[in-house]
Amino acid sequence: MTIKFNELQEYIKNRMREVYSETVIEHATNPKNFGNMEDADGFASMTSSCGDTMEIWLKIKNDIIIGATFMTDGCGTTIASGSMVTEISKGKNIKEVLKISQQDVLDALGGLPEDSQHCALLAANTLKEAISEYMAVKRDPWKMAYRKYFRSRI
Ligand code: FES
Repeated sequence: MTIKFNELQEYIKNRMREVYSETVIEHATNPKNFGNMEDADGFASMTSSCGDTMEIWLKIKNDIIIGATFMTDGCGTTIASGSMVTEISKGKNIKEVLKISQQDVLDALGGLPEDSQHCALLAANTLKEAISEYMAVKRDPWKMAYRKYFRSRI
């Protein structure tokens, strides 16, 4: 028996629907804002206790997020979390962005299974760290020279 590629794809999606929301599936399979950013105003790289790393780049004008991108070596739910956190941060003032929590990311995704919820924490914390780096560089521009060495663990 031969299974056509489209049928296999649909089968896999149906199995995913048993565990994940449509929003998670959409952001995991078609992530928004994936990639690095030249001339970012804020950057952070964080590694979760599971070993997955997320990097976030921010473009900020007058303290408003005008661009946000991410990369990760993590699994699908980490990709979905990075995609969502960059989406919900855009257009917001940095003070509002600092309030984006793990729960906000989970709510926007329509939830995650318990053992994947730390992916949303990684995304929220990396975003906050990128804002902190932006503020630190704004205060002391020489800190930009150390950007590539910034890496934190949660
Ligand atoms: Fe660990 Fe997603 S960050 S599995």
